Amino acid sequence: MSFYVTTPIYYVNAEPHLGHAYTTIAADILARHHRQRGEDVFFLTGTDEHGEPVALAAEREGVEPQELADRNAPKFERMVERIGASNDFFIRTSDPRHADGVAAVMQTVYDNGHVYEGVYEGWYCPRCADFKTERELGPGNTCPIHEIPLEREREENWFFRLSAFEADLKRLYAERADFVVPGFRRNEALSFIDQGLEDVSLSRPKLEWGMPLPWDQSQRMYVWFDALLNYYTALSFARDGEDLTDRFWPPSRQVLGKDILKFHAVIWPALLIAAGLEPPRGLAIHGFLLMGEKKMSKSLGNVLDPNQVIDRFGPDALRFYCAREVSFGQDGNVSAAGFEARYEAELANELGNLASRTLAMIDRYRDGVVPDAEPDPALAEGPDALEGVDGEVRALLDRAELSQALEAIWTRVRRLNRYVEENRPWDLAKDESEADRLDLVLYNLAEGIRVLALLLIPYMPETSGRLLEALAEGNRELDAFGARGGGQSIDRIPALFPKLD
Ligand code: MSP
Repeated sequence: MSFYVTTPIYYVNAEPHLGHAYTTIAADILARHHRQRGEDVFFLTGTDEHGEPVALAAEREGVEPQELADRNAPKFERMVERIGASNDFFIRTSDPRHADGVAAVMQTVYDNGHVYEGVYEGWYCPRCADFKTERELGPGNTCPIHEIPLEREREENWFFRLSAFEADLKRLYAERADFVVPGFRRNEALSFIDQGLEDVSLSRPKLEWGMPLPWDQSQRMYVWFDALLNYYTALSFARDGEDLTDRFWPPSRQVLGKDILKFHAVIWPALLIAAGLEPPRGLAIHGFLLMGEKKMSKSLGNVLDPNQVIDRFGPDALRFYCAREVSFGQDGNVSAAGFEARYEAELANELGNLASRTLAMIDRYRDGVVPDAEPDPALAEGPDALEGVDGEVRALLDRAELSQALEAIWTRVRRLNRYVEENRPWDLAKDESEADRLDLVLYNLAEGIRVLALLLIPYMPETSGRLLEALAEGNRELDAFGARGGGQSIDRIPALFPKLD
């Protein structure tokens, strides 16, 4: 089975920041999880290099747009690498191979009769590179996102007949209840469609930084058409001499922020249908990380700068925090102080401590060998039962519920810490008649940590890897609690998450 997951491609007019890292981390969690299920995964990310936002930024800096793109794209590539993303390719839309692919698809849309010439008049935001309908305008004819006054533009250009796809889109949404998750975003997209779709302009006569229309070289393609098609074109040239389109098309899950919902949930599937291509199977929409909080933290100051966090704490702590602090799909506040609080309470004290005391006790009481025992029935009951946790996490991640899946794992981390307190292995160790009981407890702790470490790979690949190595576990695929017996020799390891001071 194949699993194709994408992030939006990032505008090269700005420096990468935590919001970009967030989308990438979310997609990476899904990519890694599906690899663990033994699926054939392709994970794509990249940069969006054409269009007005980039042309304007280049003009402000007094350089050519391509120069700005060449300067900034590598910063995004480095960001993606630093957060530990396992992408299979990084597409840049200024790549001529992408242009060839876009031209071919758009020519098909034209040949299929879904394009016409007309005059556009409306409110245009150059920062969004988007015309706003009257309904979308902010107070005083402003852009609701950038809060800048908008100009009324009138121009001759080509139109994509979006209105002709209303019925197809409604059918798509009706047939696939989870085409867009979470559900409230699905309703938002659907109500946009239900209000009636207007055709969208496809080209700009004035813009220079963009691809010419294949059938009218005097017009440049509106950047969103060029950008959306990256998801399709990349498969044809990501591997030298190999076309991956048949193997991976259509995308299984496309991750994106709520600000670009309309493009992905309405225009994108319509464009694909117009080109005779299959629309994506599902979109996962996340909210915004709000970075307004001013409270100072001990070591990070008051801005949550991903580079600073990674320098000091490594990528895993940042990935964990992003998935944990803000419920995936919702908006939420993030801050340096909030990061440190979770780092200390959950990573150092809960997970770190569980691992270090378990390994230490196996070392001390059983010469470093995991005893061979059975799953403890006490861990098979209740909402935080270790049994079945793998299935629960799979089901949640099938709906892209990243934070909920992490919560499901975390309730088990807490369950195992309680299990230690309930059983007091240090007391059992003093009493020879409790030897079997001690074997049982130590086995269950080691086995519990093994299963949780496997489930945590998508969130914290590096930490989980270290933990699994310490447990002499070579397998990296998901596994059920109790599937492995004892007998393996463990290693004690330095603290997974050193305390802050
Ligand atoms: N270039 C377009 C996407 C084209 S996809 C065919 C674009 N680029 S962007 O760089 O502005 O945004 C890329 C992604 O980053 C979006 O998913 C956006 O939601 C996300 N984020 C940017 N700032 C964000 C936050 N503060 N919080 C969470 N994500 C946000 O849009």
